[in-house]
Amino acid sequence: MLTLGIETSCDDTGVAVIRNDREVLCEFLSSQIKDHSRFGGVIPEFAARKHLENLLPLVDAALRECDISGHDLDLIAVTRGPGLMGSLIVGVMTARALSQAWNVPLIGVNHLEGHLFAPLVDAEDLEPPFLSLIVSGGHTEIICVHDFGKYELLGQTRDDAAGEAYDKAARILGLKYPGGPEIERLAKTGNPNAFDFPIPLKNTDKIEFSFSGLKTALLWQVKKFDGGNIPVNDLCASFQRAVTESLMAKVNLAVKITGIRKVSASGGVSANGALREALRSDERFRTWLPAKGRCTDNAVMIAMAGANSWERGVRMNDVMPDPSLHSL
Ligand code: KG4
Ligand code: ZN
Repeated sequence: MLTLGIETSCDDTGVAVIRNDREVLCEFLSSQIKDHSRFGGVIPEFAARKHLENLLPLVDAALRECDISGHDLDLIAVTRGPGLMGSLIVGVMTARALSQAWNVPLIGVNHLEGHLFAPLVDAEDLEPPFLSLIVSGGHTEIICVHDFGKYELLGQTRDDAAGEAYDKAARILGLKYPGGPEIERLAKTGNPNAFDFPIPLKNTDKIEFSFSGLKTALLWQVKKFDGGNIPVNDLCASFQRAVTESLMAKVNLAVKITGIRKVSASGGVSANGALREALRSDERFRTWLPAKGRCTDNAVMIAMAGANSWERGVRMNDVMPDPSLHSL
């Protein structure tokens, strides 16, 4: 079974072809980071125009690389939400047109279910039930995967997502977008204990996150330097420690509450070295992580989630973009 995956929910145009449930035949990603970073964040209208320019050439390139034609495909899987409306429209409408033209069935994928599948690409031994920490620019949540297609949201953020917090913190520190990789880079030569930032909701017995107060704590700390020399590296390291400790506290709480000792993480923030190290070295559970390049948005995870749904018998007659599609 050959599945073409298409991802255009935000600012990355992704196209991939997989065989059966997880064999990656080819993978293309066109990142718009350089285009958006000069604005300090993603400009939705601009992102949609870039997807329009990039998507069909990437589909062509993918088919050529796999040496197949569109008619050889068995399924097209496209992200239908959540995400930016303009970006989703380009992906979904293109996928609908290709599905009609090639007479190939189409399935719409929840972007979060896509992230949930990212660690499975290289991990045949990860079987439900397991816990999935999704930490991206738009979401921070822990999902219990009872089975594929049977998901339970255990808890999520009350306000900002972890990636959003990294991006806003970077902005406060005058660093470029996206903030996560920049903060991680500078944190490497900073002291994580230089500033005692609050660890959000660390000792509550509810699985939930909150990062907006931490961002404000950073802002106040920066203001204290009153235009003087700001110890950016120490601030980055201390901020990263606070985010990581908060995420780890709730992962451990979820493990304790459910008794499930298998944890996967995905989404852009799961590329963060400090978080990866903390998850891997925690002996209370076993951890599965995507390859660093598949933490952020990509089409392999969408193809995998789509193929899995199709195998389970999910069918969709009318795939439409849904920017506010809720969690799983
Ligand atoms: O999953 P993703 O590509 O897009 C969404 O679905 O949101 O995640 C992007 C987010 C951005 O907020 C970015 O700052 C964050 O992931 N991110 C990181 C790292 N790489 C990306 N955060 C912390 N450390 C990183 N290395
Ligand atoms: Zn994402």
